[in-house]
Amino acid sequence: MEGMEYFYELFRGLPRGGPGDNKSTRKAFSYLKNLPSEPFILDIGCGYGIQTLELARISKGKIIALDNYQPFLDILMQNAKKGGFDNKIIPKNQSMLEMDFKNDTFDIVWSEGAIFVIGFRNGLKKCNQLLKNKGHFVVSEAVLLLPNLPKPLKEFWGEVYPDIKDIKSNISLIEDEGFNVLSHFTLPKSCWVDFYSQMNKEIKELKKKYHNNKIALQVFEKCEKESNIYAKYSDYFGYEFFITQKN
Ligand SMILES: C[S@@+](CC[C@H](N)C(=O)[O-])C[C@H]1O[C@@H](n2cnc3c(N)ncnc32)[C@H](O)[C@@H]1O
Repeated sequence: MEGMEYFYELFRGLPRGGPGDNKSTRKAFSYLKNLPSEPFILDIGCGYGIQTLELARISKGKIIALDNYQPFLDILMQNAKKGGFDNKIIPKNQSMLEMDFKNDTFDIVWSEGAIFVIGFRNGLKKCNQLLKNKGHFVVSEAVLLLPNLPKPLKEFWGEVYPDIKDIKSNISLIEDEGFNVLSHFTLPKSCWVDFYSQMNKEIKELKKKYHNNKIALQVFEKCEKESNIYAKYSDYFGYEFFITQKN
């Protein structure tokens, strides 16, 4: 995408890379039963790793934090060091499209708001291979919460994620790919409201900084459009956390 550097600059100024909060990370983790005392965890598309740090707080395991943007991993490791978790988190700069871990490696694969990059079905297939027997895949994924989308919303999703589905269809997909759904829940609206209010604040400043830069302004306008779509149609879509176990 042209102007990716402005997109990254915007995201470096946000408290996290997508809607989510520590309470929901903890809630999702609480559904995992009979874990080994030190589970080996992979966090895919960790960004600057707010959820990675939370996983380090609530589990005794080691976590590989995978993202393909080094500055995010650097921020994560600075924060890990501050919190005394740098011995539990191993940053890995690699694309999720090219993960080179051996099969049957992880007790838990975690991914908040990122698996769409390889597509949900592909993500399920890949994570199934990476997980040990009875391992867990915990993922938050954009879903449709209501049918009959208004036209502008239909067009928006057609452009950004044509594969978006409702919760029931996602559960069928998860089961088709060899997992049981232990639980699932919708992220609270407050996660989205906080995320976009921070984003809008940041965009206001960046628009001043780049007032003469057409490409940067286009990037920010695209993000603003997304935020406006959420403000108008927030009942129609959200993020669903799926807590699953490999059969
Ligand atoms: C919406 S953010 C979510 C970040 C974080 N999980 C959170 O909830 O705050 C998506 C993340 O996926 C990462 N990403 C995008 N494409 C990727 C790829 N091909 N391989 C690995 N990470 C990727 C981005 O750098 C970004 O950090």
